[in-house]
Amino acid sequence: MAEKENAEDHIPTGIEGLDALLYGGIPAGNQVVVSGGPGCGKTLMCFEIIYHMAKRGIPCAFIAFEEQENVVVNNFKKAFPSFSDVDALMEKNLLVVDGADVSSKMHSSTESEAYSFGSVISSIEEVVRANNAKCIVIDSLSLVKLVFSKPNLYRRYMLALALSLKKLGVTSLLTLELEHTNRKEASFGPEAFVFDGTLVMYQDLEEDKRIFSIEVVKMRGSNHSLSFAPYEITNKGFRVFTISEA
Ligand SMILES: Nc1ncnc2c1ncn2[C@@H]1O[C@H](COP(=O)(O)OP(=O)(O)OP(=O)(O)O)[C@@H](O)[C@H]1O
Ligand SMILES: [Mg+2]
Repeated sequence: MAEKENAEDHIPTGIEGLDALLYGGIPAGNQVVVSGGPGCGKTLMCFEIIYHMAKRGIPCAFIAFEEQENVVVNNFKKAFPSFSDVDALMEKNLLVVDGADVSSKMHSSTESEAYSFGSVISSIEEVVRANNAKCIVIDSLSLVKLVFSKPNLYRRYMLALALSLKKLGVTSLLTLELEHTNRKEASFGPEAFVFDGTLVMYQDLEEDKRIFSIEVVKMRGSNHSLSFAPYEITNKGFRVFTISEA
C-alpha cells in the first residue's frame, strides 16, 4: 500500500482534492464534524459527498434540520446543474432527504430536555432504517446546540448521539457553525472531541477577496494530510486544490 493511501475500508468522498487530503476517504463508520462559517458550503459539500456515494450504489440520507427538504434539493440542483440525476437517485431510494419529523420533535421540546433529545435520536434512527442508509448527513448540529443548550448536558447529548450512530454503523457527516472563520482564530467545541473526525472550512480575507480553504483537523483511525487546501465552489461541484506532498 502506498504511504499516502489508507486501507480499503475508507469511503471516498468523490471530491478529488478532499480525498487527497483524507488519503483516500473517510474511514467507514466514522462520524465527521464539518464546520465552517456562514455560506462556506457546508450543506452543499455534504450533499455532494452523499450524491457521489449514492451514484456508486451506497444508500445515503440527508437529515435537514434547518431548511425544508425541497429547498435543500433545489439549492443543490441550482448550484450544480451537471449533477442532473439527483431525482433519479432519489426515486431509487439511494438518496433520501428527510428531517421534518426530527425538526418538529426538536421544536416541540416539552417538559424534559433529555426525553426530547431521546426522541430526536429515535427519529434519526428511523430515517437511517428507512433506506438502510450507510452514510448520513445531519445538517446541522448547531440547531441541536441551540435547542438543547444546557452546557453540562449538551456534551452528554453529543455522546449519546455518537453512541447511537456507532450502533447504527453509519458513516456520518455533521455540519456545525464555526464562530471564528479564519484559520488563526479557529477554536473547537466539545463536538470536535466527541466525534471521530473534524473537517474545517475556513474563510480568510486576502486584500479584496474571500479565500476558502479546508483542513482535516482530526480523523480517528486514519492517516491524513496536515496541510490545508484552498477550494472553490464551481457549477460542477467542489474543487479542492491540493499540492503534492513530499
Ligand atoms: N454554482 C455556484 N458557484 C459558486 N458558488 C456557489 C454556487 N452555488 C452556491 N454557491 C455558494 O455556496 C454558498 C452556499 O452554500 P451552503 O448553503 O452549502 O453554505 P453553508 O455553509 O451550508 O451555509 P449556512 O451556514 O448558511 O448553512 C453561497 O453563499 C454561494 O457563495
Ligand atoms: Mg447550510
